[in-house]
Amino acid sequence: MGCNRLEGKVAIITGGARGIGEATVRHFLSHGAKVVIADVRDNLREALCHELGEGTSYIHCDVTNMDDVHKTVSFTVEKFGKLDIMAIFGGFSTYAYACSKTAIVGLMKNAAVEFGIRVNCVSPYGVVMHLTDGLVPVEVMNLNLNFEDLMSKVGNLQGVVLKAEDIAQAALYLASDDAKYVSGQNLFVDGGVTIVNPSLVMDYSSLLGQA
Ligand SMILES: NC(=O)c1ccc[n+]([C@@H]2O[C@H](COP(=O)([O-])OP(=O)(O)OC[C@H]3O[C@@H](n4cnc5c(N)ncnc54)[C@H](O)[C@@H]3O)[C@@H](O)[C@H]2O)c1
Repeated sequence: MGCNRLEGKVAIITGGARGIGEATVRHFLSHGAKVVIADVRDNLREALCHELGEGTSYIHCDVTNMDDVHKTVSFTVEKFGKLDIMAIFGGFSTYAYACSKTAIVGLMKNAAVEFGIRVNCVSPYGVVMHLTDGLVPVEVMNLNLNFEDLMSKVGNLQGVVLKAEDIAQAALYLASDDAKYVSGQNLFVDGGVTIVNPSLVMDYSSLLGQA
């Protein structure tokens, strides 16, 4: 694969100040894109822009606020002359989390049909990020397992750990011309965990437990 797969492209990355979004910002920049980070974490603005340099800009944008979203698009077009890619990370409350996970795939498919542009999703397995802090149950903590250990143990692939950069790599593929005819797809980056039928495993475990 080439190393300038986004040369000449302009991207907005929401939730780009931290976590998977930030990894994607760095990856897109290294592939030649100009990137606007749209986030609510304004305290990180200066350090990020200073470190990432000229090809990056930051704007305060709460993605739940349509005014902010419109301003972000106008800002981007004014600053870099156009907009090619929207990559959306972050912006869901915990309450809406489960609903939004399902709804987002439906929205993506609808948008892919309605607007005549490419729209896709990436669905990751668990990645250690701020979002996952505190997600380890007490019983597991007592076994001295952190989130990453836990995810590796219950994952499908053995001896491989999912990192934010792996999600960024999937986002890069979908955003680049390598995927020029790929639209309406939900790309799972989960080591195949979603194709495993957990009820079988649970049945076997409970049978063995009873034996
Ligand atoms: N980390 C995982 O294991 C995992 C797994 C599956 C899906 N995801 C999804 O990936 C996305 C990013 O996850 P992460 O782990 O990098 O999270 P994170 O908390 O590390 O980073 C999220 C970023 O989004 C920003 N953000 C939050 N609310 C916002 C809003 N209203 N408007 C604009 N920006 C906002 C935050 O300021 C932060 O910079 C989330 O949508 C999450 O649901 C994460």
